[in-house]
Amino acid sequence: MVKMTHPIDIDKIVSQLSLEEKAMLVVGRGMPGSSGNPPSRVPGAAGETYPIPRLGIPPTVFADGPAGLRIKPVREGDSQRYHATAFPIAVMLASTWNPEILYKVGRAMGEEVKEYGVDILLAPAINIHRNPLCGRNFEYYSEDPFLSGEMASAFVKGVQSRGVGACIKHFVANNQETNRYTIDTVVSERALREIYLRNFEIVVKKAQPWTVMSAYNKLNGSYCSQNKWLLTKVLREEWGFQGFVMTDWYAGDDPVEQMKAGNDMIMPGKAYQVDKSKKDEIKEIISAVKEGRLSEDVLDRNIRNILRILSQSPSFQGYKYSNKPDLDDHAKISYEAGAEGLVLLENRGVLPLDKNERIALFGTGQIETIKGGTGSGDTHPRYVINILSGLDLKGFRIDRELSNRYKKYVDEMRQKDEYKPKGVPWSPIIPSLPQDIITEDEVEKYAQRNDVAVIVISRISGENYDRKPIKGDFYLSDDEKNLLEKVSKTFHRYGKKVIVILNIGAPIEIESWKNLVDAILLIWQPGQEAGHIVADALIGEINPSGKLPVTFPKDYSDVPSWNFPGTPPEDPKKVVYFEDIYVGYRYYDTFGIEPSYPFGYGLSYTTFEYRDLKTELKNDVLIVSFTVKNTGRRKGKEVAQVYISAPRGKLDKPLQELKAFYKTKLLMPGEEEKIKLEIPLRDITSFDGGEWLLEAGEYEIRIGASSRDIRLTGKITIEEEKTYKL
Ligand code: GLC
Repeated sequence: MVKMTHPIDIDKIVSQLSLEEKAMLVVGRGMPGSSGNPPSRVPGAAGETYPIPRLGIPPTVFADGPAGLRIKPVREGDSQRYHATAFPIAVMLASTWNPEILYKVGRAMGEEVKEYGVDILLAPAINIHRNPLCGRNFEYYSEDPFLSGEMASAFVKGVQSRGVGACIKHFVANNQETNRYTIDTVVSERALREIYLRNFEIVVKKAQPWTVMSAYNKLNGSYCSQNKWLLTKVLREEWGFQGFVMTDWYAGDDPVEQMKAGNDMIMPGKAYQVDKSKKDEIKEIISAVKEGRLSEDVLDRNIRNILRILSQSPSFQGYKYSNKPDLDDHAKISYEAGAEGLVLLENRGVLPLDKNERIALFGTGQIETIKGGTGSGDTHPRYVINILSGLDLKGFRIDRELSNRYKKYVDEMRQKDEYKPKGVPWSPIIPSLPQDIITEDEVEKYAQRNDVAVIVISRISGENYDRKPIKGDFYLSDDEKNLLEKVSKTFHRYGKKVIVILNIGAPIEIESWKNLVDAILLIWQPGQEAGHIVADALIGEINPSGKLPVTFPKDYSDVPSWNFPGTPPEDPKKVVYFEDIYVGYRYYDTFGIEPSYPFGYGLSYTTFEYRDLKTELKNDVLIVSFTVKNTGRRKGKEVAQVYISAPRGKLDKPLQELKAFYKTKLLMPGEEEKIKLEIPLRDITSFDGGEWLLEAGEYEIRIGASSRDIRLTGKITIEEEKTYKL
């Protein structure tokens, strides 16, 4: 908790509040600046709370998002600009596997939150990647709850180290955008406990987030924001959550039930002004208390949760914010995070490049480089360095005629209505441009006069809609494939190499074309410093050290969540998680499905050797130690992963599960690092209906450079089964 210079007497305040004022404290004052609501003091903020001046309660401000503070950069009549840093997207941050990076990004973002006058950042978003097509996967960390929980914990600690609040969202099992406001997610308690709740539990216990945002969807029939089992029994009684819960925006259908369930605050408030079928939350709550349908004690409880947290906020503390965060310093942090989040998927003797190599740059993504996704997870940075500019600024020898053609093409096409953003303005769908604009003869010319081809493949997605398993989305479009084949055939005929840069926010199909090219660099959506990150990785100043936090399946038909996004397909009402705990690598590894690129995978410009594994059981903790050595010619970092393969006794289990990981320091060629990791035995249990079960038997300890590149193995035996309480 923050050291408070203005402590408040919460009990005294609660005793002085009128019923009307109490209702105002548990309902936001409406989406700022819309539907007749007053604008926020921070334009672009997503929500505000009511002030109660007579009791010294100020309004507080909540703003998105996971890749950076999302506020309006321009204010009417104000010559100052209010840009915030665009950091790499969450899945790229997770690809660093480096909690120190997440802490630094969180701390930088927290400074911008505080200096722009915001109290709570509506991030991190930590829903599990159940299916590669979820439109918001770019905003979420991983298919694995342990990696997700560790990354999010570091991020939350970073944000809150600035004395502002974080908000872990969307609690829980909001793993799709299709019909997100009403879909009923049906999932077993074991899958909830081991997968979908698990990362939230880790963050609540390790980082004490100020707030949790309950999700839109129903959970086994009851809206998350109205689900007492979820918000009171699990979150508070079992995990000891001390903050307050807010709804997602306009979520649920019963403000009184939300209050009772333990959803302390309804955001943004005044939903009835937007959707006439919705109730007037404040009036509803007041009449429910008057009619005895809602105990005032419940209101008081919720208000205490809110005031205990908000009393620490900069607004309550009377902080005089500067509107001048250190964006230059944060640009460096954004770059550093992106540099560690790149994942090198293929490299057949082509990377890093020599600066004198002449480059033919293909794909409109060199111009329209995607910094992140759309919707509430969007950002408004001062600039975005696109890939072409990044290479130019680095002094690469770019085929100017070719890149100028792409510049001109993008400008022309974006003038056409067909290629203008579609859908809701706050989360636009950006039509992708046809990519095959170079003829065979022209490719011939570029192949003759350049040394290497670089092809940028881009994908963008966002809130409010999911992706599709079709060409141009999960699969390459025909014209992307034509371009790739043309360039590959011709450049290879001249003995020249082809590199693909993937500027995407979630997996696409690679298997069918990966052998056409010589290198594949996954840059995800790297935020504002994109072009610098790409240039430095191509030249070798960055040695890629990222590892996949999500599996890249060979084909969409391999994905276990086959019924995504629910039934009936044309307008899903319900989605049943039939795959249960077998999500991501837990499915592919257990059922022998070979992926294109497995969970935890990532190449480097150097090589690493693992040796000297020792395992020890000590006071309910498994201690694993081993050594990693840089056996190549370039300095680099390695992410060592610890998987546990538990005996299949009473309960069926995945083949293996990630239980620890460690990113080395920057190892010089020949340098090694001794690593020692501790895994509480409680963490290698399975949920067995009301408790955690550690089964007796032999457990295999698997140390890997990825989930499918196991370098060292060991065994421990648990003599007696043991249970742990929830
Ligand atoms: C949106 C999103 C949530 C966001 C909130 C405020 O609908 O689901 O992630 O924080 O509303 O913008």
